[in-house]
Amino acid sequence: MTRLGEPLIRPAPGKRKEQRQMKHTALFAAIAALPLCGCAQDSSSSGKPDTSATNSSKKALVAYFSATGTTKGLAERLAGAIGADIFEIVPEQRYTEADLNWRDKESRSSVEMRDRASRPAIAGAAPDLSSFDVVFVGYPIWWYREPSIIDTFVESNAAALAGKIVVPFATSGGSGMGDSTANLQSLAPGAKVKEGRRFRASASADDLKKWAAGF
Ligand SMILES: Cc1cc2nc3c(=O)[nH]c(=O)nc-3n(C[C@H](O)[C@H](O)[C@H](O)COP(=O)(O)O)c2cc1C
Repeated sequence: MTRLGEPLIRPAPGKRKEQRQMKHTALFAAIAALPLCGCAQDSSSSGKPDTSATNSSKKALVAYFSATGTTKGLAERLAGAIGADIFEIVPEQRYTEADLNWRDKESRSSVEMRDRASRPAIAGAAPDLSSFDVVFVGYPIWWYREPSIIDTFVESNAAALAGKIVVPFATSGGSGMGDSTANLQSLAPGAKVKEGRRFRASASADDLKKWAAGF
């Protein structure tokens, strides 16, 4: 992985949706190459009072997966900003650099992401999600969606997430949330999954707090 966003120009073969995305290759590549490519989606000050459910009586958890540390930094900043508990989704088998090589069609990530039924195992047990009112779920965008291990996490905790507010957030090389929000909703049908948001890695604690105030 030498350039963030490069996968944008290398859709996995055989998928109509991704073929459609290929048509936008030049645009995506240009966007990903811009140093401030993520800024358009970042929070701006609304001037609204901070009425976050996450800083009132409601209890929030930030659960995240991060292969190379970018989402981890964002998740820690978010949890610190809103006083939430934090849980790292750690793969039972950690991803090596070779595993993350999107150029290699046979790399672990390529194989997993081609298979919608792939559910990589998570190390250790998740906290009891039923004790939280709001669960933020963070991940890097892989092939325009959530990594398969996020599917493992959401699907295996679907019962505990029923009735909870679930808020996806992500980092990426430039692309947005894709259909990951809808995917999470279908994996946990009883949860109230809110429209997710992609942030740049350097999003400030203040911006994250203002964004989280909406839930
Ligand atoms: C296998 C793989 C696929 C990726 N696919 C995309 C993509 O479709 N769009 C994009 O903008 N970035 C893509 N990226 C870049 C990551 O989303 C980006 O580097 C992210 O911030 C990494 O977060 P992390 O350090 O928390 O793992 C991909 C990275 C990997 C390893």
